[in-house]
Amino acid sequence: MVQEDLFKKIIAHAKEYGFVFPSSEIYDGLSAVYDYGQNGAELKNNIRNYWWDAMVNLNENVVGIDSAIFMHPEIWKASGHVDAFNDPLIDNKDSKKRYRADQLIEDYLEKLQGKINKETEKAANKFGESFDREKFLGTNPRVLANREKIDKIHSRFVKALEKDDLEELRQIIIDCEIADPESGSRNWTEVRQFNLMFDTRLGSVNESASKIYLRPETAQGIFVNFLNVQKSGRMKIPFGIAQTGKAFRNEIVARQFIMRMREFEQMEMQFFVRPGEELAWFEFWKDKRMKWHLSLGLGEEKYRFHDHDKLAHYANAATDIEFEFPIGFKEVEGIHSRTDFDLSQHQKFSGKKMQYFDNDLNESYVPYVIETSIGLDRMFLTVLAGSYEDEKLDKEGADDERVVMRIPAFLAPVKVAVLPLVKKDGLPDVARKIMDELKLDFNCQYEEKDSIGRRYRRQDAIGTPYCITIDHQTSKDDTVTIRYRDTMAQERIPVTQVRDIVQEKVSPKKQLSMLG
Ligand code: GAP
Repeated sequence: MVQEDLFKKIIAHAKEYGFVFPSSEIYDGLSAVYDYGQNGAELKNNIRNYWWDAMVNLNENVVGIDSAIFMHPEIWKASGHVDAFNDPLIDNKDSKKRYRADQLIEDYLEKLQGKINKETEKAANKFGESFDREKFLGTNPRVLANREKIDKIHSRFVKALEKDDLEELRQIIIDCEIADPESGSRNWTEVRQFNLMFDTRLGSVNESASKIYLRPETAQGIFVNFLNVQKSGRMKIPFGIAQTGKAFRNEIVARQFIMRMREFEQMEMQFFVRPGEELAWFEFWKDKRMKWHLSLGLGEEKYRFHDHDKLAHYANAATDIEFEFPIGFKEVEGIHSRTDFDLSQHQKFSGKKMQYFDNDLNESYVPYVIETSIGLDRMFLTVLAGSYEDEKLDKEGADDERVVMRIPAFLAPVKVAVLPLVKKDGLPDVARKIMDELKLDFNCQYEEKDSIGRRYRRQDAIGTPYCITIDHQTSKDDTVTIRYRDTMAQERIPVTQVRDIVQEKVSPKKQLSMLG
């Protein structure tokens, strides 16, 4: 299946099965805003909890907070967001479509790299075991020409970003003959900066009300509470503060479903360290965060680090964890060494000392910070994309295919489906009793409508790891059939064992113990 088509299928599936709906749909929707349905809300909660457990519960020196979305407007001047939280935008004069200039260039570079990869794979298939990849990459004229092109453009691109040179960004687009991806037109406007923050008014009388912003990141709520937490929690450096919550950005190009939204949720942690120790902690958190991603079992080969081309002026190291979606590798999480920039800026703008007295060194300093910042919605999409499978079958009923969401059991929205085989002979009563017991421990779903095969399919489609079927034998010997989502295998087990079997698999304990 073409990968773009697969992505579209996943989006359609997310809507059909109650994961994600376009916001305000009956009013024709609101661009780049989405609602989570009954299964989506469960999955999102489970991902958020898994992150919280791994970051806050497992690390004794990390605590969690929940700061307000509205904050004093000076905070966004101090953080640099008022002046510099911009994206370079460019419009196509013919199609009237708006794009991020930097993304057009990045996509172009990615395409050139794709050509090299294709060429290499073709040769690898042709020559089989005797294929020398290194030699091929170093000698094939087409590969070398594309490599040279990439290097040249990339170096111009990085310089232009570093100098905020908007004219040069446009020139690269012109020189590379980059066309509007939708219309194919090359009729471009100038490149302009566009601030991404939403503002609103605090207070009832508009003229006297002050302008405030919807936070574009949760991180600043952590920085401004650094001393509150440090003092009230008697925290000793190194320590971290984590929080999850909504963030808002007026994205120029909001596309690709929940990948880039105007209202989204972040899960961030700021780790405060001694100046000079930050790069060692940067490596520490890089490693720890990648392990968290890999613990989901979606495939090691699907992840990679991508170091930033342009370091923000306050950062001395930055990398992204990327996941391979059907539309290519995309950033899911950023890990940044932010130096003492944020605390120093808040110290300057608020006039309050943001220092820590280090008893061991007998000195005060503004701590340095390592940040881990992951988008919950993007992580949600990672789980959807990594779990979705159109599976061809040669068993189980008349169907010869099923869509199965192989969501890690501990993240699955529904853990157990309780299904009476038929709607008569007292089976629903027995099933209800089992359901009443199980729902004290797990999110369960009771279903008696349609054939058992159809009900299995519906549970596969939302990723329910276990189905329990109650039949006529159940009332005779207190046994049920347990059906496993991934293998579709069925087993007869005593009803008393259901809870333990399910519990073992749907608890994140095993994953957490490997991270601890
Ligand atoms: N405090 C640092 C910060 O906000 P960022 O790279 O701008 O860094 C961090 O954002 C993460 O938030 C990204 O890796 C991504 O997962 C998520 N994110 C950012 N913008 C987003 C958007 N418009 N829609 C969905 N997720 C977004």
